[in-house]
Amino acid sequence: MTILITAGPTREPLDPVRYLSNRSSGKMGYALAAAASAIGHRVLLISGPTNLDIPSGVDFVPVESAADMYQAVATRIGKCELAIFAAAVADYRPANFASDKIKKTDDVLTVDFVRNPDILGSARKEMGFEGILVGFAAETQNLEENARHKLTRKKCDFVVANDVSRRDIGFDSNDNEILLVYPDHSQPLPRDSKEHLAHHILEAALKLRPLPSS
Ligand code: PMT
Repeated sequence: MTILITAGPTREPLDPVRYLSNRSSGKMGYALAAAASAIGHRVLLISGPTNLDIPSGVDFVPVESAADMYQAVATRIGKCELAIFAAAVADYRPANFASDKIKKTDDVLTVDFVRNPDILGSARKEMGFEGILVGFAAETQNLEENARHKLTRKKCDFVVANDVSRRDIGFDSNDNEILLVYPDHSQPLPRDSKEHLAHHILEAALKLRPLPSS
């Protein structure tokens, strides 16, 4: 099976030396890529900037901004049977890119932001993806309820919800604690290493694979 995985943060440039980003280390997405590659799948890892080593055997596509990630996904997802979106994509980017470094002037600097494309939310309709679609939901409150909204809105088969208000799991930690949210039920997976949880997430996704017709 060919599996597309997004990972890491995006960087939204403000001027040649500054950008808006987030605390994603890429560990969750890279653990998924390593787990999928280890069991013999072809993996396309589309990743924002991280300090991690590229897992062996994976086809690696480095990107910076959400717009770059959108393009990278849109041109490749058609060849994949499973797509897992673990990246922390910036929902907004600065409305204007200053081609020169912004100078200090007044005490307050006001920056306008505009919406970035929703990559996961575009997979079904705009990109016509018909394979197994797994999203993530990074929440600080109402974990299951908010994840369930994302499941429906983004037309996923299931969503991996995590509580990103905690420092011991979620962003930039070695562990996670997740809730797999399906249309008709949810399954909690207790705190564990991202490597172990990656195997569980993959197993859950691969179970949804349609059996080959005889
Ligand atoms: O990278 P780590 O340090 O290991 O941390 C892991 C993690 C916390 C980043 C990961 O477990 C996680 O929760 N990833 C999703 C982060 C996120 O952006 O969640 P969200 O609830 O804002 O987005 C929902 C889903 O839509 C996600 O699958 C996201 O990849 C996708 N999305 C969001 C916005 C956007 N413009 N395009 C997208 O594709």
